[in-house]
Amino acid sequence: MNERSEFSSKIGFILAAAGSAVGLGNIWRFPYLAAKYGGGLFVLIYIFFITTFGYAIMTSEIAIGRKTRLSPIGAYESLDKRYKFLGVIAVVVAALIVPYYSVIGGWIIKYLAVFLTGGAFLAAQDGFFADFITSPLEPVLWQALFVLIAAGVVFKGIKDGIERANRILMPVLIVLSLGIGAYAMTLPGAVEGLKYYMIPDFSRFSIEGVLAALGQMFYSLSLAMGIMITYGSYLNKNDNIKKSVKQIEVFDSGVAILAGFMIVPAVFAFSGGSQEALSAGPGLMFITLPKVFDSMAFSTIIGSAFFMMVLFAAITSGISLMEVVVSTICDKYGMKRNKAVVITTIFVIIMGVPSSLGNGVWSGFTILDLAILDFFDFITNAVLMPVGALLMCVFIGYVLKADVILNEMQLESDLKSRRFYTFMIKYVAPLFIVAVLLSSILSTFGVISI
Ligand code: PHE
Repeated sequence: MNERSEFSSKIGFILAAAGSAVGLGNIWRFPYLAAKYGGGLFVLIYIFFITTFGYAIMTSEIAIGRKTRLSPIGAYESLDKRYKFLGVIAVVVAALIVPYYSVIGGWIIKYLAVFLTGGAFLAAQDGFFADFITSPLEPVLWQALFVLIAAGVVFKGIKDGIERANRILMPVLIVLSLGIGAYAMTLPGAVEGLKYYMIPDFSRFSIEGVLAALGQMFYSLSLAMGIMITYGSYLNKNDNIKKSVKQIEVFDSGVAILAGFMIVPAVFAFSGGSQEALSAGPGLMFITLPKVFDSMAFSTIIGSAFFMMVLFAAITSGISLMEVVVSTICDKYGMKRNKAVVITTIFVIIMGVPSSLGNGVWSGFTILDLAILDFFDFITNAVLMPVGALLMCVFIGYVLKADVILNEMQLESDLKSRRFYTFMIKYVAPLFIVAVLLSSILSTFGVISI
């Protein structure tokens, strides 16, 4: 048997997986989508998805990892040689995401530094963000710093690096979120914002909203990029997968909902109830929110706390992505972890440069009409992830057979869970994934808007 490292406890695993799941998607996308698609209605739809086939996909990945005790390529290969390419897709997705994810991670460190040094008023100025991301050198340096921090953790290995970092960062993240959320509640107009965010508005039900919830689920749970397979491969044989997945999902959606409590009332109060101010993506986080913070009492403290919280969310996700690449190199080439980390770090920093420069010096260079960072985002999230997930469901449901996963989950005698899982993985998940795939391609090219 190989002497593969393991998480030292179930909670260590749960915090690491939750650390991966809780990321930028929870903070800048979820509140925006919820506010846009019917408030509590969106939250209900989202919860329905994560508890049905989101649950099935996540358990499958963790079970595949734990059964084979290998990173994605080796894992699929050992289950069935013909499906090795599924592992390759997962690792390619991870390797393509880390560089541009770290570009954004670098922006967060920059903002944290600005707020910590009392620069709230600077960050709130018009043009501050645009000037920063278009400069040729500065964002690259911050990106490299982000990568180096993540690499430092991965370098230390599973127990002393990944598990320990998550054990510290995740609880602090929760405390910061609760503090900022509570403060946001005291702002004038907060109640109006909160109503808009939380009360289900069934008249705003739309297919777009359903598809957006689906896409958000994939991204937010870090599915289909080998992360859960890799982390699962370090999970102790005695731990209960079903329970762990439930806890990871509660953690992930809890932080997503909480993020709305921080952001929606504050932005609402600041903008006098404008929904537009809640627009997603970099604009919200790096342009609108700094203005909101600057307008508050205690702007330095609140702004710093917020960007620290976001940094913790992003770094724990970055770590998980990097670990996929590192553990694949270690498994495939029998390389030592520290060497693999050095190679991965250099690769990620170099690969991040075009994504970073694509906002400025190289902005004339587009692929399919998309800036470089957006192109990587599109090809990974909109195409490769759903395709990989679809093929995984087909593989498990029809080739490998669901029993293999169910046995790894030790559900031999739990007939209800067996039926539920099998139904999800064979029929429901593939159908919905096709819908995600089509909708994300169409929306990238402006045919529909999500
Ligand atoms: N799950 C993370 C989030 O919600 C996103 C992520 C994507 C993390 C890819 C790791 C890898 O932001």
